[in-house]
Amino acid sequence: MKKTTQPLLEEYQLGDLTLKNRVVMASLTRGRATNAGIVPTALMAQYYAQRASAGLILSEGTWLSPRAIGFINVPGIFTREQIEGWKLVTKAVHDKGGLIFSQLGHIGSASHPDFFDGELPAGPSAINPQTHSYTPEGFKATLTPRELTVAEIKETIQDYRQAAKNAREAGFDGVEIHAQAGMFIPQFLSLATNQRKDEYGGSIENRARIVFEILDAIIEVWHSTRIAIKFTPVALSHVGIVIPDVETIPMFQYILKKLNDYHLAYLHITGPAEDLTGTPVEALQNNYFSHFRHHYNGRLMANLGFTQESGNAILQEGTADLVSFGTPFIANPDLAERFKYHLPLSESNRDTYYSGGENGYTDYPAAVYDETIAQLDKADAEQRLDC
Ligand SMILES: Cc1cc2nc3c(=O)[nH]c(=O)nc-3n(C[C@H](O)[C@H](O)[C@H](O)COP(=O)(O)O)c2cc1C
Repeated sequence: MKKTTQPLLEEYQLGDLTLKNRVVMASLTRGRATNAGIVPTALMAQYYAQRASAGLILSEGTWLSPRAIGFINVPGIFTREQIEGWKLVTKAVHDKGGLIFSQLGHIGSASHPDFFDGELPAGPSAINPQTHSYTPEGFKATLTPRELTVAEIKETIQDYRQAAKNAREAGFDGVEIHAQAGMFIPQFLSLATNQRKDEYGGSIENRARIVFEILDAIIEVWHSTRIAIKFTPVALSHVGIVIPDVETIPMFQYILKKLNDYHLAYLHITGPAEDLTGTPVEALQNNYFSHFRHHYNGRLMANLGFTQESGNAILQEGTADLVSFGTPFIANPDLAERFKYHLPLSESNRDTYYSGGENGYTDYPAAVYDETIAQLDKADAEQRLDC
């Protein structure tokens, strides 16, 4: 293994995959699948290939079925054309020596009838998640959804399985289940949006059932070490009423205990963006990632607000195994290399986060380092010889 003083830049063995560093590109919805079939494009392939120096890329949240949709110009992975489009992306990343997982997303009740020919979206219970859906006509307030039948829940679980299978066919190296706050899975975990009276509602065990049924279905098509899941247990804003409740901490303790038997690629946890004081998850304020580390035996990927310094520190202290970066990857396609050579980071333009074609997407250059890097590499090699 190449010796380095930055844990972020160390090679890392993720099951049978060798990551060239521990800098992971977190999923970023960029709204560039601007075609009727929400098919990944050559531009998207270029964008991901530019970021292939990350140890692992997580694709943008990708709709796993037509019923999963709830945000415009986000690609799917449920049609033949979409699978073919993703092949362009995975090939481009692999050709550059990168690795890429597909993030499988379902927005559940936080969608809008505009996506379903006027029909209501569905969720665990007929309760308005009180958030917004980005429709072709702009942001619209969510409505009271329809409650899913048990048969529909089982079908949705099969949709996850099929999408995971499609991801395999499309050449992805694995899948990450998108269970960030506000999405389909957290709508089941939350006391506010799940008031079902059957085996998917009520107790912690019942509300968490969906997580394990989805994992069990995906394990039929991928080895467990190629499957991951991403949670944001403490999101407080932009997620409507799916916010931490009095059962969030015991809920996650239960989930983590069970996940210990799954031997997943990793558990991806997004940290708190806000002060947790006075919230039901206040106890996590000062020991957030170590709490998850304590309850989970497998690999932990930490996310939210990390910098080169704090990313190296959390790995150094052993509280996480991998660190993911979201926003920094928008304007710094070569983030890992900038860390390596301590080069300054560029700022991204928020106006082009979700639209703008190549503008603010593929036009952020790698740092001007061709010559600089050659010199730094030479100096690095000389220094090593001196040691
Ligand atoms: C433009 C944008 C789009 C995002 N899209 C997704 C997404 O599709 N799936 C997901 O899990 N998180 C998504 N996120 C959240 C990021 O993956 C990450 O969790 C968040 O930005 C915090 O990491 P950071 O502080 O390094 O940016 C998005 C964030 C941004 C800024």
